[in-house]
Amino acid sequence: MPAADPRLIVPLDLPTVAEARDMVARLGDAVSFYKVGLELFASDGMALARELKGQGKQVFLDWKLHDIGATVQRSAAVLAGAGCDFLTVHGEPQVMAAAVRGRQGSDLKVLAVTVLTSLTDADLAEMGFSETAASLVERRIRQAIAAGCDGVIASPKEAALARRLGGPGFLVVTPGVRPDWADRNDQQRVAAPAQALADGASHIVCGRPITAAADPRAAALRVAAEMAA
Ligand code: C5P
Repeated sequence: MPAADPRLIVPLDLPTVAEARDMVARLGDAVSFYKVGLELFASDGMALARELKGQGKQVFLDWKLHDIGATVQRSAAVLAGAGCDFLTVHGEPQVMAAAVRGRQGSDLKVLAVTVLTSLTDADLAEMGFSETAASLVERRIRQAIAAGCDGVIASPKEAALARRLGGPGFLVVTPGVRPDWADRNDQQRVAAPAQALADGASHIVCGRPITAAADPRAAALRVAAEMAA
């Protein structure tokens, strides 16, 4: 039985903590890294995060913090104290710098969400930005590096740019990953696991191809085998 690939992150996009626990039990030793998002935050997600840490798993808190610096700094400090591994914040310079201050002295890695992939150039113009999404993504990757962030969330399309700008130790975490055999669901620009890694991803987030499979554990092992190849 191969060990779980620590570069594979499975998002627990489930409505209740009970269902998330059940999924973790089904995946067993095939998965070692989980993402807990806003849906579970609203239903005791932090308790689940602590439980997962207690089981020796790695935990990615995808809470996309966005507030005044003092609040972000204190929140990041509390989350760092819980022993979690990754935390997302919005890619604004004040927010990123505050999170980096907050996690000081801990192993918590701060990842910047550059531009939400749901935003088009037209949406950004309506919000008052004079840049395209692609140009804002690049600006924010540079600002994340300057703020001392450990990495960014990047679509497979942006992974190579993030890797080039951030250098070898930078974390590039890529959702929108789909093996050839899986349904794309609502993801538009997808890459296969091995391709995302070849393009510069340090970690991939792969959800429904695993969690919606008839046999989630077998699907996770299949994704991990593709990553190894
Ligand atoms: O099931 P699937 O593999 O599409 O799940 C992808 C996960 O990554 C979800 O938790 C989704 O919210 C998250 N995500 C994404 N695209 C982004 C940022 C986050 O799909 N640009």
